[in-house]
Amino acid sequence: MMTSHEIREKFLSYFESKGHTRVDSSSLIPQNDPTLLFTNAGMNQFKDVFLGLKSLPYSRAVTCQKCVRAGGKHNDLESVGKTARHHTFFEMLGNFSFGDYFKKEAIEYAWEFLTDVLKLPKEQLWVSVFEEDEEAFELWQAYIPADRIVRLGEKDNFWSMGDTGPCGPCSEIYIDRGEEHSCNAKECALGKCDCDRWRELWNLVFMQYSRDENGTMTPLPKPSIDTGMGLERIATVMQDVYSNYDTDLLRPIITFLESMTGKKYKGGEEGFPFRVIADHSRAITFLISDGVLPGNEGRNYVLRRIIRRAARYGKELNLNEPFLYKIVPQVVSLMKDAYPELEKNITYIQKIVKSEEERFLETLSDGLKILYENIERLSKENKREIPGRTAFMLYDTYGFPIDLTCDIAEENGMSVDIKTFEQLMTKQREKAKAARKEMYEVDEFFKIIAHLPSSVFVGYDTFESSSSVQFILSGNEPVKACNNKVKDIILVLDKTPFYAESGGQVGDTGIIEGKDFLFRVTETHKTPDGKIYHIGKIEKGNINVGDTVLARINVERRQSISRNHSATHLLHRALKEVLGEHVNQAGSLVDEHRLRFDFSHFSGLTPDEILQVEMKVNNAILKNLPANIHWTTLHEAQEQGAVALFGEKYQERVRMVCFGDYSKELCGGTHVKSSSEIGLFKIVSENSIGSGLRRIEAVCGFNLMQYLYDNLEILNETAQLLKAYPNEITQKIQELQEKIRSQAREIDSLKQQVINSEVVEILKNAKCVNNINVISAKTESKDIDDLRKMCDMLKQKIKTGIVALGSCNDDKVSFVVAVTDDLTKKGYHAGKIIKNIAQIAGGSGGGRPDFAQAGGKIPAKIDEALSSVSEIIMNI
Ligand code: ALA
Repeated sequence: MMTSHEIREKFLSYFESKGHTRVDSSSLIPQNDPTLLFTNAGMNQFKDVFLGLKSLPYSRAVTCQKCVRAGGKHNDLESVGKTARHHTFFEMLGNFSFGDYFKKEAIEYAWEFLTDVLKLPKEQLWVSVFEEDEEAFELWQAYIPADRIVRLGEKDNFWSMGDTGPCGPCSEIYIDRGEEHSCNAKECALGKCDCDRWRELWNLVFMQYSRDENGTMTPLPKPSIDTGMGLERIATVMQDVYSNYDTDLLRPIITFLESMTGKKYKGGEEGFPFRVIADHSRAITFLISDGVLPGNEGRNYVLRRIIRRAARYGKELNLNEPFLYKIVPQVVSLMKDAYPELEKNITYIQKIVKSEEERFLETLSDGLKILYENIERLSKENKREIPGRTAFMLYDTYGFPIDLTCDIAEENGMSVDIKTFEQLMTKQREKAKAARKEMYEVDEFFKIIAHLPSSVFVGYDTFESSSSVQFILSGNEPVKACNNKVKDIILVLDKTPFYAESGGQVGDTGIIEGKDFLFRVTETHKTPDGKIYHIGKIEKGNINVGDTVLARINVERRQSISRNHSATHLLHRALKEVLGEHVNQAGSLVDEHRLRFDFSHFSGLTPDEILQVEMKVNNAILKNLPANIHWTTLHEAQEQGAVALFGEKYQERVRMVCFGDYSKELCGGTHVKSSSEIGLFKIVSENSIGSGLRRIEAVCGFNLMQYLYDNLEILNETAQLLKAYPNEITQKIQELQEKIRSQAREIDSLKQQVINSEVVEILKNAKCVNNINVISAKTESKDIDDLRKMCDMLKQKIKTGIVALGSCNDDKVSFVVAVTDDLTKKGYHAGKIIKNIAQIAGGSGGGRPDFAQAGGKIPAKIDEALSSVSEIIMNI
């Protein structure tokens, strides 16, 4: 039997032997691609190469790519566990040609690999081709009789990455797993039936077009090849098992679940929770390892959904405590040979999963409470349908899956207004789509300037350069000349000192000027293929393509940014030293005012830890560590222990930024020449931004000076208000606090005296109704606590009886009613009495048999309300 690891290796080396370069899997978080939630195919990392926006030193590549299909165009989440072959996370084996070979060789290689290397029985293989693709139909006949070549339509045989991007007709290779896997439907045939008999193994895409957001397709610069074969599916065939879940990639996880639950896994319906959990635990482990965290938006939300879905199916196996985090090590040990990063991140992954599970269990009980409250209220109103808005709120705020809401509704004899729920969901989706559309417009612009050579960035060493204008965009149109003062203009130069926003560092601002014009740059960005573009406004004159200009950045602003960026590196190192090596950068923002640093850690920093971190950073600053910045190979940098960012994919040549021996990071940003230029460093805030994720904000240089001045000013103003010197402030405040406390004590004792004398007065007016002592009175004391206190005192004095008190405060009325225990036993109920009283004063209320309180809105009715007490009691 061939193991999955062997299959993976055989695939990669087969294509290497055919001149393909072996390329690592890219991260599950797509780089520079706003149109994509997760990496969903092997071709994603080559998208710009297919589009002709980027070139590579090779024209054939082979990969084994980590993929997640749980959101966006390709979404298999709902099929997971139901079929033998769908997953959220899976590995895609793929070979690629970038304008090199096309259909003929793609088919030839695929056939040879399947039949010669893997030795699959030829007579069981089938293929499908796009109905209009005569060429593919012809080519396949060299290997397969025409009656096993099926023509299918666009739905099956035209592949695209997403709504936009590279696409083309495709041809799929299937294996017929035999009658015994058939669904036995009359129509059970390839292309007509989606059952487990016809296993799609390999998709060969003949990449020919690029589709824009209007659906218009333009031919790609060069026809190319993109293929994908699911490793789990081919393993099923090679290991001769029924389902992907029985292969060596997934079965061990199920076995572990069996030992955890004491339940036996069976195929079919019953095994559903096992399969969902096994599938999801792989997605969870890989996504977190690649830097995704559970959250409320975009890919973070999808991860949260996957964790919650798995946790919920755990409940069906009686797993009521967090358990997913215990499966993580199983996944890691199965996959670590192919993906060594997993082992490094294992503790981190486990912590994130566990805290998300704990959070979910809490949320679940909060959501359940709300749902049950709604059910109870609706039943009282004799309604049998849970409003769609409620179901949506539970979904949106409490992560409550709609099927769970429906299940619980059904258990309580109710239904859910699914129609409104769906409408609200659609509205939310449209909102998200509109946000994506904006991103596509940026994509359009990238295409327009694709033909330009990459801009040269000269701003590491100089702040100005003489450059030539390559391209002008005005009002979304490329123009040759422009003098428009109103609109945002985009300029591309051949070389520029302007740093384009990236790696968390904001872009430079400044001026681009010529003999008689001036352009003020407000933002600088770059396209995925490295063209730097300047956004701004023309303040004077005309700009023409071809003009020679002087580009000057705002130097002071840049220096502040560089100080903050270098300080970020020192902070990263110091955090690792103080908190531990598990601290990893999860994001950062560096601008001219401050630096923001997000990192993984599990609890808030203590004041002492913050101080230690600040001391370490300032120590590194004052040691005047020289910045040593150089280009090297990724391998060399890793050997030297450089910190690379989580989930980031690096090029072969990397830029390494070191401060003495203290900090070594791979970074493309701008930095100070030596650490002492940072001046001084101070953390100004530290807080949580999600489970296992903290955020620090800090300042340095002139910004720190300003921060200190601002604080000194507050201190001086406070001192003036206290009529003291700053060093006396603490003592003054303590004295004031003591004074307030003693005055409060005095007020309390005076209040007590007022209450005592009121109680004496009220007692004089006690009546006897139905042989019961009844007191009902309006009091001068307004505070509800005082009212309660008086009520207690009166109860003690009369020993047995009923007390009703009321007071007015502005436009509100408060009532309290107390009934002594001997009378509650006879059926007198404070809650019921107060309800009647409060009604008269325009209010409502209720409470226990022995004590109740209520409010009213009509002060003018307070006397009438209180005098009704005797009558109410008489009628009981
Ligand atoms: N990109 C193609 C797919 O995902 C191969 O099916």
